[in-house]
Amino acid sequence: MKFEELISPIGIERFNREFKGKKCLVIKSEENIFKDYFSWRDLDNYLNQYKIGAWDRTPQLQVVLPDGNKWCKKKSKEYKTRDELLKLWKDGSSFILTLSEFLTQEMWEQCQEFEKHYGIGQANIYCSNNKEAKCFPIHADSTDNFLFHVRGKIRWYIYKEFATNEYRPNDATLEKVIDLDEGDLLYIPKKKYHKVDTLSPRISISFHFTDLKGKPYKRNNWYDWKP
Ligand SMILES: [Fe+2]
Repeated sequence: MKFEELISPIGIERFNREFKGKKCLVIKSEENIFKDYFSWRDLDNYLNQYKIGAWDRTPQLQVVLPDGNKWCKKKSKEYKTRDELLKLWKDGSSFILTLSEFLTQEMWEQCQEFEKHYGIGQANIYCSNNKEAKCFPIHADSTDNFLFHVRGKIRWYIYKEFATNEYRPNDATLEKVIDLDEGDLLYIPKKKYHKVDTLSPRISISFHFTDLKGKPYKRNNWYDWKP
């Protein structure tokens, strides 16, 4: 979807003037315009490739553990069996497929569209199996974030402050609470503090981008290999 189409209720000019780098923007949708970006079936296909043989097919996987720490498939020394992972999933740990825009054509081409207006980008996919799943505590990201809510319901807490050296996330003051349904979009400027609660099983995709400096990034096209 073109960037101008995504933010059509306000338009690019107003987005740049009023929101970019300054404040959050929510665009609600009557229908789930993001349903083809990533489905429960896509997640099932992905997670079933975990430890199926000698090859590492799920290097992007990260898990928010019950104690709030993060387990990272690529970097954590601790090994997890398929059964241990399934238990974590069922018990409410959120799973993150980081840097995974290549998993579907929709996500790939969405990055391409954003990169006409931003620098190089990526998509992280956040998935939770139940209501009250474990998610990250209050934090800020170093890039602008466009959150596509794809499956289920989620509650966002947006804080007034932006991350600075002297400011700690736990001192942040709540600015607003936003509930997102399937097909809704949320823009969060870089360094703005935020946190989520899951209200049901959910899939959300965060597209995040560096600033456009000089030449736009030229992403390869998605090829059609179908006969
Ligand atoms: Fe974040």
